Amino acid sequence: MSNHNQSIRAQWSSNIGFILAAVGSTVGLGNIWKFPGKAYENGGAVFLIIYLVIIAVIGATVMLAEFTIGRHTKKETVGAYRQLRPQWASLGFLGVVACFIVLCYYFQVGGWVLYYIYSYIFKSAEVFTDPSFYFNYMLGFNEATGTAFFPWAGAIIFPLIFISLTVIIVIRGVEKGIEKFNTIGMPALFAILVILMIRAVTLPGAGEGLHYMLIPDFSRLTGETFLVALGQAFFSLSLGMAIMITYGSYLRKEENLAKNTALICGFGTLTAFLAGFMIIPAVYAAGVAPGKGSGFAFVSLATVFQHMSAGVFFGILFYVLLFFAAITSSMSLLESVVAAFTERMNIGRKKAAIGLAVIMFAISIFYTVSQVSVDIRGIWFDFANGLSFPTLGDFMELLTDRLLIPLYGLTACLLLAWVWGAKNGVDEIRQRGKFPFKLAEGWVFLVKFIAPAAIIIIIIFGLFLGRALT
Ligand code: PHE
Repeated sequence: MSNHNQSIRAQWSSNIGFILAAVGSTVGLGNIWKFPGKAYENGGAVFLIIYLVIIAVIGATVMLAEFTIGRHTKKETVGAYRQLRPQWASLGFLGVVACFIVLCYYFQVGGWVLYYIYSYIFKSAEVFTDPSFYFNYMLGFNEATGTAFFPWAGAIIFPLIFISLTVIIVIRGVEKGIEKFNTIGMPALFAILVILMIRAVTLPGAGEGLHYMLIPDFSRLTGETFLVALGQAFFSLSLGMAIMITYGSYLRKEENLAKNTALICGFGTLTAFLAGFMIIPAVYAAGVAPGKGSGFAFVSLATVFQHMSAGVFFGILFYVLLFFAAITSSMSLLESVVAAFTERMNIGRKKAAIGLAVIMFAISIFYTVSQVSVDIRGIWFDFANGLSFPTLGDFMELLTDRLLIPLYGLTACLLLAWVWGAKNGVDEIRQRGKFPFKLAEGWVFLVKFIAPAAIIIIIIFGLFLGRALT
């Protein structure tokens, strides 16, 4: 690595800018698109309680570990791992691989969100009245005739716009691009979320959904609730993907890591909850099945908005919200990969961002196309049949959610607690900020034993127990 790069290393201009950027990374499609569906399927209020406990005990522990490694080394993930233990450098690369794969579908889904904004503005009649709008327009599958066609808009045009926006922001840099965008985008996102939530809970018939989300029914608690909550907590807090190491590496020494971690986990989780309290009551009020995954945000919600007065307006608002959530996360993903390439290989930011985005875009097209296109899906399906991964997208999600993300999270905990030494970590955190003795002791215990044990459990169960984590 060149000294040149080191000497001009980027920094956040303010602590609040850092917090907003980190919250921007955590609040993404995972919080708004995946979380409400998971909360619904796994018992509503019970799931929310377990989720909160897991965030406080394990999520915050791992996040603080990542920030500490990042700020101490002031390097992207591979360099950070290498500095603490040269033999671990390739493990640091796992995080880059995970970001790369997640981006390959994030870019497409981000494009779909833009496509929905466009459609609500220009074609709301079709969105509302054509139940197969999602398949027909976005994925390129005509249900009526059973034929597949190439989805130009869903796979190429809108994803390309989304990718270009992400690339432009990342090229502008940490302070002028990412920090600046988040300083405007995140307050806007919160404001929209609150408006939509108020609208949702005041819909006639929303009470039942609220009841489900507020009154715990402990008979619904199973081992799977914990597994799903743990997997979701990692994804939702952007842990286990090198992002918090990268973002932490741009933080000045005078900022308080422990407090920042608490704030970021708090805000990230609050938005997920607000999203849950927006979507579930709305879905109950409209009397539609919530569904899950992409069907949830793109299919069930069309019915919800259709039954609402000023539905087009609220529909647009919802997809604008989803757009802010998606782009602030996708820039954090791209930044982590770009930082690794620029710092390790001495490539300029612009070249790295554009080059990587082009490769990812090429791969990402298959994500959308493989959802329905008979030809491509046929090939993939045959190969994957035995493994029961029906589409490329499912395969990407399984590989990252079940394997790479927890594995990298595990390496971060072990590297900090056992290789570098938990005491050194505490010293780094204490450098300026306060970290009370009892809290530090508790964190050391969690990062040494509890977090690694919990992650090993997710990996084993996630890999061997069927769909426990999807
Ligand atoms: N946390 C983001 C979400 O909830 C997803 C994400 C994961 C973003 C990992 C960056 C890194 O959607």
